[in-house]
Amino acid sequence: MAKETLTIKDNRTEQEYEVPIWEDTIPAMELRQIKVNEGDFGMMSFDPGFKNTATTESTITLVDGANGILRYRGYPIDQLCEKSDSFESAYLIQYGELPTKEEYDKWVGDLKARASLPENFKAFFKAFEKDGHPMGKFIASVAALGTFNPTGSDIENVANRVEHVQRLFASAPTLAAYSYRNSQDLPYVEPDPELSYAGNFLKMMFADKDGNYELNPALEEALDILFILHMDHEQNCGTNAMRSIGSSHVDPYSAMAGAAAALYGPLHGGANEAVLRMLTKIGDVSNIPAFLEGVKAGKEKLMGFGHRVYKNYDPRARIIKSHADEVFKIAGANPLLDIALELEKIALNEDYFAKRKLYPNVDFYSGMIYQALGIPRAMFTVMFAIPRSIGWLAQWQELLNDPLQKIARPRQVYLGEGERSYKEIEQR
Ligand code: ACO
Repeated sequence: MAKETLTIKDNRTEQEYEVPIWEDTIPAMELRQIKVNEGDFGMMSFDPGFKNTATTESTITLVDGANGILRYRGYPIDQLCEKSDSFESAYLIQYGELPTKEEYDKWVGDLKARASLPENFKAFFKAFEKDGHPMGKFIASVAALGTFNPTGSDIENVANRVEHVQRLFASAPTLAAYSYRNSQDLPYVEPDPELSYAGNFLKMMFADKDGNYELNPALEEALDILFILHMDHEQNCGTNAMRSIGSSHVDPYSAMAGAAAALYGPLHGGANEAVLRMLTKIGDVSNIPAFLEGVKAGKEKLMGFGHRVYKNYDPRARIIKSHADEVFKIAGANPLLDIALELEKIALNEDYFAKRKLYPNVDFYSGMIYQALGIPRAMFTVMFAIPRSIGWLAQWQELLNDPLQKIARPRQVYLGEGERSYKEIEQR
């Protein structure tokens, strides 16, 4: 049988090293033995953006980028979207198995009991600038919620960890809806324990000032599917931030605020907002060829296209696209959809995109559905953060339970000045 090792020859010294292979990886620390002389620090790997570095083992989510596959705990995303709901899929992500009826009922009851915010938290929200971006308010309020939950910092206590995981996942929609209502000068709506995860969110967003809201079950289901689709996506930028911050053993509120901040960026969860800006700017199907010429010339990016891992159609984009028509039937057509469909069709036939394996990602169509649901553009990334909270928290729990994990602290290759003497200001 072939040996599960890799032989590396250093041509500087003619020396060979044999390093173990595990799951198609080599331990980066094995490289350290490769030295030119005894005083040498030893070799490191150089990988800006972690393009080819696994930082953890995980049993939560599988993304098979070449084949466009996404599974949570082994269950294909399309089956979960068809048969599960947000509460159940969140349980699956958190605990690794689908719940029994009793487990489901207890989980949902526990979450609903933790969806309200402390009374004086509302005063905190009032301090925000009305026109401030709701994602900024969401990030700040997640961190601030930690100050109302000081036991969150007791991360060694497993039962306590579960308590705070439930508080964070349960209150994410409440914080999100408060962020929106704050910008509209509307009074806050308390969570409704009779409703689903998505239904409750829609009511907290859109109920009138007396708290009345007529829930459309088809739109509620469409949003629930969007929530399931966004729950976890292995080691992306936001999740890596959650793990990196969590590796310092800070409380989960602070770590999740950092993860949400990472998600905010236009190269990550902020892309859904950028897609709508782009489609609005294109304005008409006839302008697509000129727009794509600009993209190919490197003047701008085709937002909602491309992915670090998917080199095939993002399965989440496929599911969202298949639900778009249903939503538009109820909520009215979105004229941007015609531009998006044509843009996708033309781009997929262009050499530039084919060669680089650039396909629509989750953000290409999600914004149009959010818009149809009446959700303003500035809220799109918040919509992503709500369900992703459970993924972040499951990844955080996995990190804390993993004896291999250490505080995240990458190395660098220093190319700056050597030592030099301080010069007084008059001599510079
Ligand atoms: N439009 C045009 N060209 C693109 C795009 C795009 N959207 N994405 C990648 N490319 C090109 C790059 O310019 C590069 O071309 P080159 O080889 O000629 O230099 C090549 O494709 C490889 O791209 P990288 O930037 O090296 O790929 P990376 O894995 O680092 O980036 C990313 C992935 C950030 C998602 C990128 O594709 C992108 O910026 N897409 C647009 C923003 C977006 O939709 N983000 C959401 C991603 S999904 C999510 O985070 C939830």
